[in-house]
Amino acid sequence: MMSHIRITEFTEAHFVSDSPLVLADGEVHLWQVFTQTFQSRGPKLNQLLSGEESDQLKRFYFEKDRTRFAVAHGTLRILAGRYLNIPPRLVNFRKQSNGKPELAEYRTAESFSFNLSHSHQLVVLAFSRYPNLGVDVEYIRPMPDFQQIADCYFHENERAAFQSVPLCKREKAFFDYWTRKEAFVKATGEGLSRPLNSFFTSIGSVKQGGMLGIGGERIITADWNLLSFTPAWDYTGAVAFEARTSLLKESGHLMGKVPAGGTNRQ
Ligand SMILES: CC(C)(COP(=O)(O)OP(=O)(O)OC[C@H]1O[C@@H](n2cnc3c(N)ncnc32)[C@H](O)[C@@H]1OP(=O)(O)O)[C@@H](O)C(=O)NCCC(=O)NCCS
Repeated sequence: MMSHIRITEFTEAHFVSDSPLVLADGEVHLWQVFTQTFQSRGPKLNQLLSGEESDQLKRFYFEKDRTRFAVAHGTLRILAGRYLNIPPRLVNFRKQSNGKPELAEYRTAESFSFNLSHSHQLVVLAFSRYPNLGVDVEYIRPMPDFQQIADCYFHENERAAFQSVPLCKREKAFFDYWTRKEAFVKATGEGLSRPLNSFFTSIGSVKQGGMLGIGGERIITADWNLLSFTPAWDYTGAVAFEARTSLLKESGHLMGKVPAGGTNRQ
């Protein structure tokens, strides 16, 4: 079985379209949304949110956090609605006991999974028919204590590989490792209830088809797929999904681009 990972930038045209989207078996769709592009769309996005989501939004103190939440959850509803062929407001979400959001009911026998991540001015949404899917994105920012975090939270295999990364590249490498680990614990839904040092994501040994391996306690490596991607030059991301797949086809901007309007740094 071959998996196909496609990354697309969510644009104004996607915002206004309601034509159905097709998610075939074996596909993973990643959508990247730059929040500043949709800042003026706040009122329209807010209208799409459920009562519970609106309450959550009101609890944010900063305007930028409210904007990012509205963009993340509004575009999630737009895209999920187009995949499911229902209006965005009618998409019904619930949370698993571990906090992972999922669809409240499936309209068909086919599974439909999604996951979202946000950092700074970027939201990434992932969709697939593989049931266990996780995505994580991080803005690459100064992180003075990255070495201590790596010492505490990286698996011993990762720590050894991390130390061999040249010092000048280590901060970026830290975020690469971090997003891979978070993508995995988000795919399983365990979040931080799984100790991050109980498993490793390979940086050196790449599985067939360009994917990275995952190993460690209670993990069958052959069942898991992991891929790093670069949504824009100052971000890094990773997607993990559970499937016995051996080959990977990629399309879109997996290797990154400079977003319209230049850098996202403020
Ligand atoms: C879910 C978790 C694993 C990831 O959170 P995060 O990296 O902070 O945030 P992300 O933006 O990537 O993901 C948040 C989204 O994941 C989803 N999510 C929540 N719980 C989840 C779970 N158990 N499994 C999968 N996805 C989950 C939600 O959609 C959430 O979005 P929302 O809050 O707008 O509803 C969280 O448990 C966590 O607290 N992580 C620690 C983050 C941290 O310490 N970061 C340091 C960076 S160096």
